[in-house]
This record gives sequence, C-alpha cells and structure tokens, in this order.
Amino acid sequence: MKILAIESSCDETAAAVVENGRKVLSNVIASQVESHIIYGGVVPEIASRMHAEAISGVVKEALDRAGVTLDDIDALGVTYAPGLIGALLVGVNFAKGLSYACGKPLIPTHHLRSHIAANYITSPDLEPPFLCLVVSGGHSHIVAVKDYTDFKIIGKTRDDAAGECMDKVARTLGLDYPGGVNLDRVSKNGDPLSYKFPRPRVEGSKYDLSFSGLKTAVINTVHNAAQKGEEISVPNLGASCINCVTECLVSNTIEAAEEYGYKKIALAGGVSANSVLRRKMTEICAEKGFELFMPELSLCGDNAAMVGAQAYYEYLSGNIAGPELNAYATMPIDNIIT
Ligand code: KG4
Ligand code: ZN
Repeated sequence: MKILAIESSCDETAAAVVENGRKVLSNVIASQVESHIIYGGVVPEIASRMHAEAISGVVKEALDRAGVTLDDIDALGVTYAPGLIGALLVGVNFAKGLSYACGKPLIPTHHLRSHIAANYITSPDLEPPFLCLVVSGGHSHIVAVKDYTDFKIIGKTRDDAAGECMDKVARTLGLDYPGGVNLDRVSKNGDPLSYKFPRPRVEGSKYDLSFSGLKTAVINTVHNAAQKGEEISVPNLGASCINCVTECLVSNTIEAAEEYGYKKIALAGGVSANSVLRRKMTEICAEKGFELFMPELSLCGDNAAMVGAQAYYEYLSGNIAGPELNAYATMPIDNIIT
C-alpha cells in the first residue's frame, strides 16, 4: 500500500511517498528556517503563507521522486494535530481537496504519533510494545506505545518542553534559531559540570518533567553575569544546560521503563537529534540491558516520511476521515477526535 503523506504543522512543508509504513520511496522537505531566522523563532502567519506557496510543488516533487503518479497512490495521510493552526490548515485543506478530487481515502495523522513512527523506518524490525521518549519543540512526553495506535502517557512536562527550554537558552546566548541544534553544536567541547543548575522536582506524578525553572535559572545566570560585566563561557553554559535537561529525560525514561517492564526504549522528536541525549541513552541502555531505537538524524525533525509510516497503521486500524476533517492546535496523543 502506497501512502502520499503531507506535513505542515510548523515551519517545514513536507511530502513523502511511503510503502507499507516502512519503505520510503521519496521524502521532500521545504524548510522555512531562513525566513524565520531574523525573528528568532517561527512567525505563524509567515509559516502559513509559505506553506500555501510551497505545498503543490512539494507534493508534485514527492510523487516525481518516487516515480509514481496519483493513480499509484492508495491513500493520503496528513498531519491534522497538534501544531500551529494556520500552518496545519494548509496541509489539511490541500489533502482534503486532493482526496476528494482523486477519490482516495484520507488518513488524519497525529504529529507526535508520526514522530514515534519515524523509528519504524529506521528500524524495520521494531514493533510495539515499547516505551518512547518524545521530545520536540512543543512537547516532552514519556509514552507507552502499547500498539501502533494505542498510546498511554506515563509522564509529561508540566510547563516548557525540553526543546523550548533549549531554544530560549540558545536565544539568550545569542545563537540563531533553531536554537536547540545550535546549542548542541557550540556546546560540544564545553564542560557539562561547570555551572550547577537545580534539577527540577515535580510533585505528584512520578515521571512528569519540568523545564521552565531550569530555563529561568540559565537565563538569569547570563543576565547576572552581563550586569556584573563578567564573561560567561557559552560552550560551558550550554553544555551544563544540556547536561541538566538530558539527565532528567534519561533518568525518568529509564525508571519508567523499569517500573512498567518495557525492554525496548525509543526516542522521537526534534530533540532526539541531540548528541548528548543520544550518547547518554546509548550508554545507559547498554549498561542496563535495554534495546534502544533512535530515528536516523534526518528523520528526527519534522518530515512527511514519518507521517506516511504512522498513517499506514492508522489506516489499518480504520482511522479514516471525511471532508469534515478539521485541524487542531492541541490534541492528546492518546485521545484521537476527528
Ligand atoms: O519535532 P520538531 O522538529 O518540531 C516540533 O514538533 O516541535 O522539534 C523541534 C525542536 C526545536 O526545539 C529544536 O531546537 C530541537 O527540536 N532540536 C534540538 C536539536 N535538533 C533539533 N534540540 C537539541 N539538540 C539538537 N541537536
Ligand atoms: Zn515535530
């Protein structure tokens, strides 16, 4: 079964053709990063307009690179939630129109489920159940993937996402958007123990996370140093911040896997590209005997191949939408409403 997948939840306009949820025949991404850099973050109105300009060409390119036409496509998958509402609506309306015009089923696909499904492409033998740490710009979840379309949130951030925390710290340090990836790059040779930051404590749910206090502590360190005319070391501060964020993510995930009895652990989302997170997870999983799955770097950020992978399993479970499909800025991963 060949699915044409479309993704437009944030600042990448993407389309892909994916066969049986695992084999990527094409994967096209038009990034808007250059247009948002001067603003230090994504401007939603600009993102929507750029999606509208790019989407026809990106979809055509995905079909061409896969060597197929619409006649060869069995269904359309589209990201309908969560994300920037104006941006999502461009992809959803384009997919609805195409579905109606060519009479192919339309599969609404949840963005975080798709991030998890990026692992099915990189690791063709991976099957649920497994535990997944989903870390993106807007979300930080520890999710039990009980089946391809059956999820349970075991822990989540109470405030900022890990990606948001690193993006804001990066911006305070004068690094360009997208901050997380630049913070990772400039911190490579920094000393992760040079600055001490409090490890966030969350009352109540054992596996919940919190990053806003850490973000404020790091930003205050930068501002206090500036007021006193003291130098700060960007690599050291960046490495210390990344160390703190990744320690929380890794320890909560490992403890959750132990308590819930999962032997397989996966990473997903843009922050899963972080070099320290990947190294720490690799080390601890080897030491404790967990099998670790990580998307290849090109599939960590937003792309449509992962949408095509998840859409296949949504289709198998009967998740098909009609022309009434809407886009939603927020939508829990375990509660799908179309
Ligand atoms: O999943 P994603 O591409 O978009 C959302 O769905 O949010 O994640 C984007 C986030 C941004 O916060 C970005 O800074 C972060 O992923 N990110 C990283 C790295 N690469 C991307 N954070 C830390 N280290 C990286 N190498
Ligand atoms: Zn994403």
